[in-house]
Amino acid sequence: MAEDGQEGCGRARVLIVDDDADVRLSERACLRRFAAEVEEVAAGKEAIALASGGRFDLVLLDLGLPDLDGIEVLRRIKSQAQQTAVVVVSGRDSIEAAVEAMRAGAEDFVTKPFDPARLRTAVRNALRLSALGRRVEQLESALGARSFAGMVGCSPGMRQLAASIRKLARSSATVLIQGETGVGKDLVARAIHDEGVRRSAPFVEVNCAAIPPELIENELFGHEREAFTGAERARPGKVELADGGTLFLDEVGELAFPSQAKLLRLLQNRRIERLGGNRSISVDVRVVAATNRNLLEEVRAGRFRDDLYYRLSVYPLYVPPLRKRREDIALLVDHFVAAAAKAEGVERPQVTPEALAALRAYDWPGNVRELENVIRRALIGLEGGRLDLSALPESVRGGAGSASLMPPALEKAAAGGRILPLREVEREYVELALERCRGNLSEAARMLGIGRTTLYRKLERYGISLRPEAAS
Ligand SMILES: Nc1ncnc2c1ncn2[C@@H]1O[C@H](COP(=O)(O)OP(=O)(O)OP(=O)(O)O)[C@@H](O)[C@H]1O
Ligand SMILES: [Mg+2]
Repeated sequence: MAEDGQEGCGRARVLIVDDDADVRLSERACLRRFAAEVEEVAAGKEAIALASGGRFDLVLLDLGLPDLDGIEVLRRIKSQAQQTAVVVVSGRDSIEAAVEAMRAGAEDFVTKPFDPARLRTAVRNALRLSALGRRVEQLESALGARSFAGMVGCSPGMRQLAASIRKLARSSATVLIQGETGVGKDLVARAIHDEGVRRSAPFVEVNCAAIPPELIENELFGHEREAFTGAERARPGKVELADGGTLFLDEVGELAFPSQAKLLRLLQNRRIERLGGNRSISVDVRVVAATNRNLLEEVRAGRFRDDLYYRLSVYPLYVPPLRKRREDIALLVDHFVAAAAKAEGVERPQVTPEALAALRAYDWPGNVRELENVIRRALIGLEGGRLDLSALPESVRGGAGSASLMPPALEKAAAGGRILPLREVEREYVELALERCRGNLSEAARMLGIGRTTLYRKLERYGISLRPEAAS
């Protein structure tokens, strides 16, 4: 990161301060490979004036200046532009002078006449230091704004999202949150509620994928007494329970057609009828819906009503996938390491640069949820207070990609020229898909080309149990 800094891309801005034009010329020659921009001055006051705004990454500073003592110039620059590195290049060849310069904050001390290689080394090291310093500064300044309503992130995408949420929170407009699985859509929905005027009213969530189609309307709209066999008493649905607050319809793309029509009516009239009733009940709910499907594609494919789509997407929000905002990875790692260490009751481990590099390079098909799981698992049984590459799964380390897509039983059967019962193949294939996306149901359903409800039923039929983190 910071280290491949200036030499390769030559972006450094450097100020040369020396009253000797020949020295300036030879310093400039040494800088050629590092600097994008070089300025020269011959006096201390000019140097201070130019450098104190923090415009330069590096100052090459002579001590014997005509107007001011170089050490004084150094102090002034350092007090006003802490991240600017200063390499003193001086004819004062004494230990005392070097010590004084270093104490005043210089990164290095090179004696004149200088050996170009020695100066280049000093420049390279100083630029690295200043790049690191800037990075720390950036991170620190991002710290204040690095999380919003529980959402960690400092990428432009996340900042924009936070700004939209703030704006939206003031209204009661219907919001449609789209984005891949695990990007944080639930968190966004929660934030819209928590930041808004409805925050003290209920936030009621309905997962449209987890409830079988034949039960969803009862869940949403409730029923009157004796609406169906077994309905001994009337029961309000989630829409009524959310009155005054927010109704969060998660996985809205899974809603079956008849239910879509009822939802549309709610959005149009803000009224509902319980099952088995003819009373129309007025409700004041803000609807926030989420889906990891591309809803417009669902509309085009005839699986989702277009009129409902337009009603829902009054205010569309898109949460970008993690691989499109890698700047957030380090912050998220930090966040999850701290949380996992607390949960495990262990001291917070140091993440090694190699491990962090691998975490940043990986593509995260399961997005933030996958990252969270990887960190949580890495911390289990971790020793030595270091989270190193070896604590990460092979896929993240970069070794994967070649694993078989064939379920083991099928592979064996194929090798033995045997045909397996379809049921068995299906079970294994479902298991394989779940394993592939680390237990993420939406993702597995997407890969298998079936709805989540269908997947739930298959899990039940085959007695496949989910690991705890996948059930959420
Ligand atoms: N920006 C973030 N900061 C901190 N934690 C996050 C962030 N984004 C997501 N998470 C965490 O990642 C996990 C997955 O997030 P969430 O459940 O909101 O994803 P989702 O987009 O709703 O996924 P799905 O489509 O599968 O329902 C949660 O544990 C959540 O707390
Ligand atoms: Mg979700």
